[in-house]
Amino acid sequence: MTEISTVSFRKSATAEKGSAVFLVDDSLKMPPAAEVIGIAALLSRAAATAAFKAGKFSVLDVLVPAGTEYDRAILVGIGKPAELVEADWARIGGSLLGALRKGDAAVLYAERADGEAISPDQLAEIGLGAVLRSYSFDRYKSRGKGNGEDSKKSAASLEIVHPEAGKAKKAWVSRQAVAEGAILARELVNEPANVLGTVEFAEKAESLERLGVTIEVLTEKQMKKLGMRALLGVNQGSVRPPRLVAMHWNGSDTKERPIAFVGKGVVFDTGGISIKPAGGMEDMKGDMGGAAAVVGLIHALASRKAKTNVVGIIGLVENMPDGNAQRPGDIVEAASGTTIEIINTDAEGRLVLADALWYVQKEFDPRMIVDLATLTGAIIVALGHDHAGLFSTDDALAAALSKAGEATGEKVWRMPLGQAYDKQIESKFADIKNTGGRDAGSITAAQFLKRFVKDGTPWAHLDIAGTAMSSPQSETNRSWASGWGVRLLDRLVADNYET
Ligand code: BES
Ligand code: MN
Ligand code: ZN
Repeated sequence: MTEISTVSFRKSATAEKGSAVFLVDDSLKMPPAAEVIGIAALLSRAAATAAFKAGKFSVLDVLVPAGTEYDRAILVGIGKPAELVEADWARIGGSLLGALRKGDAAVLYAERADGEAISPDQLAEIGLGAVLRSYSFDRYKSRGKGNGEDSKKSAASLEIVHPEAGKAKKAWVSRQAVAEGAILARELVNEPANVLGTVEFAEKAESLERLGVTIEVLTEKQMKKLGMRALLGVNQGSVRPPRLVAMHWNGSDTKERPIAFVGKGVVFDTGGISIKPAGGMEDMKGDMGGAAAVVGLIHALASRKAKTNVVGIIGLVENMPDGNAQRPGDIVEAASGTTIEIINTDAEGRLVLADALWYVQKEFDPRMIVDLATLTGAIIVALGHDHAGLFSTDDALAAALSKAGEATGEKVWRMPLGQAYDKQIESKFADIKNTGGRDAGSITAAQFLKRFVKDGTPWAHLDIAGTAMSSPQSETNRSWASGWGVRLLDRLVADNYET
């Protein structure tokens, strides 16, 4: 992993060399600081010569003459001021960071030429975007062998200058925790499955103990005792043992029932006996994106000492074909007592979640549950990579998630649930079967999960197959894994579940 850039907030600039960064809207008026430094006219000319239009997230790199305070100036476009939305500030920070070079020291004069103030929260979002953008996964690129750009770019430092630097610094403490959580989630998803198996993943989760998180790791033996045959059946073909990890953060001063987050953690999904085609199968090292987001989220909440009681549950397995692997036609009894006919061993995520959902309800009696899973290819067909699929039995929870999605840029799109879809998962031999055919594949998967959630518990399921990994590069992410969900759920908690 490349060194992550550092962000600081100051009332006035301390760096003298390096890059001066300015925000410019589409009027192309230069902000006051550019005048003070004496390069406003130069920047205007440079913008005109380069036909720079200051569109949102565009950047222009300008060399400044010798004798100026800085070596160069960077203009970051913010487009039409009236069209700026909350989620844009992190993207602005990301675009800015993308224009820096290795080891750069940069000063952002955080002011707008239209006179509008930039709030402390917006400043912290700029910092968040910058830190997220500075992450790359290059641990396995040995140096000096003609490696890619990734391994060459190392930490830059960014100083954000603003009269409310003190307040921004406070907002940053929380935002930095979120950045760390998202980067942790990316790390877990990017790591290959030979390095990060079930046991290693559980150990990573256990390391949250140092933040004051209570951790409980269930072994195969313990899960057998609890009757978690749905989860265990998936891992049956693997030589590595399954794990179920519960992470508990008790941040509220009340005895309130916790909110719960549940993640699918298939460290590798070959499909099992219903084996996947070879093309692109390597991507299935990321089939634990849900679990990674839950670990990243708990990290963020504990680091920023969120005033809430929360539990994170992750089911860790590996789906492999083997002489002992689960077969199509097998019937297993989940811990809840529901019997499941296995039609396709590649529909394994829902089996893992069935027992994880049951466990979190039995053990923690949560007042709300959100699960995250790279659950279906069908959600990618439906929504592509810009929205995750949201399924919920609770309109208020769905609305809160949609709102948090708009605010953070980790967007969700609500999909339907409905009894009519249950027909597709009726089994000839058992209570239900684990696939519902091609039609409405993401919905029947969600409908399957719903069978394991008690009536009356507000529940939402996020199908993140299209957003957790392999999504298009963005201003705030250049790595394969996105860490999707950490920002969204941190926001959900902050806006709705903190005392
Ligand atoms: N992990 C996959 C879903 C997936 C696909 C995630 C692509 C990320 C990218 C899941 O376990 C799976 O294999 N789902 C099957 C379900 C089917 C057999 C009913 C699918 O989507 O094809
Ligand atoms: Mn699968
Ligand atoms: Zn899977």
